Amino acid sequence: MKTKTLSIHGKHHKKYSGNKELASPINQTATFYFDSIEEAEQTFECKNEQYVYTRGRNPNLEELEDKISLLEEGSFAVSFSSGMGAIATLLMSLLKSGDKLLTHNILYGSSHNLISKILPDYGIETNMMDLRDLYNNNSDTVGKRGAGYKVVYLETPANPTLDIVDIRELRRVMGEDVVIIVDNTFATPILQQPLLLGADFVVHSATKYIGGHGDAIGGLVVGKNKDFEATLRFGYMCEFGTAMAPFNAWLFNRGLKTLEYRMKGHCQNAIFIAKYLETHFKVGKVYYPGLSSFEDHNIAKKQMKYFGGMISFELEGDGNGTGDYKAIKLVDNLKLFKIAVSLGDTESLVEIPAIMTHRGQDISPTLIRLSIGLEDVEDLIEDLAQALETI
Ligand SMILES: Cc1ncc(COP(=O)(O)O)c(C=O)c1O
Repeated sequence: MKTKTLSIHGKHHKKYSGNKELASPINQTATFYFDSIEEAEQTFECKNEQYVYTRGRNPNLEELEDKISLLEEGSFAVSFSSGMGAIATLLMSLLKSGDKLLTHNILYGSSHNLISKILPDYGIETNMMDLRDLYNNNSDTVGKRGAGYKVVYLETPANPTLDIVDIRELRRVMGEDVVIIVDNTFATPILQQPLLLGADFVVHSATKYIGGHGDAIGGLVVGKNKDFEATLRFGYMCEFGTAMAPFNAWLFNRGLKTLEYRMKGHCQNAIFIAKYLETHFKVGKVYYPGLSSFEDHNIAKKQMKYFGGMISFELEGDGNGTGDYKAIKLVDNLKLFKIAVSLGDTESLVEIPAIMTHRGQDISPTLIRLSIGLEDVEDLIEDLAQALETI
């Protein structure tokens, strides 16, 4: 089946109550009962697939997990209370004291904090570098940097500079033994399927494009190796208590049904706006993987179907050292674009990562990040034009 069909139907229609509902009912229950201790014992011995407790399994969560696993072409998925819940739980399940973790040096703020500040306290050695250097420079770098890492973690496109890391090349230089985790939040499986390019795990902040409407927080992990599911689900997620709520799973299931159409709309609007910004005399560098001027455009063309809905840019002459950045004035003067963290919503959003999502990190203080929504692109351009007029 094709992705549009899969994201609507998933593996099969689940019949929850026998009432033939088209939309799945919400299983808003903490626990599930047994008719006898014998039945309970059979379930606890894994001799049947009955549900026990929503912190471990729930039909709404399973419907979502089946669908995302199909879309990413994985063998299993586990849902979490948030993207950070997914990332932290997965990393803790894979890494032990003394293990080494390598990441790309541009990461979403909380992921960066988790990896650079929290994990080292648990004896995990973490190193950050520009992962593109691993294959762009010669193998000498690879030999020195690639050796001994248990896990490599990256976002591609990366938040907020949209760096694209070539996943196939990364697998080639790191070898088969290292576990590669790709945060696919920006691309979604509609634009890119990291497991088919050599990754072992995909993580999502479902809060973003998967939900698509900015109304629920959630996270997902999709894995290639089914044998790891029980460890992640029952050994870590269930014990850490990072489970997704049934209503959120229901919202994400609904979001998935229109994911492909929405992603195409975000991408169409974004390429239009990126080209508009690129030619505006008040705009400096534009970061968008779909622009031929973008550093990683050729890799993006190779591993992505379309180029996503996120754009970052700097204003011409900004960063002049006075601290009185034009970027702040521009953002304040936008009307349709709302100043907010998060992304992937129907509404267009704008932020300054150095002040908001990526505080304290090595990100240009004048970089502006746009999450291009699904409004009419002409209205979005008009809004950007009037704000650019004011600076
Ligand atoms: C790329 C990326 N990964 C992970 C997260 C964390 O997701 P959540 O906010 O759902 O915990 C975010 C949040 O902005 C993100 O942008």
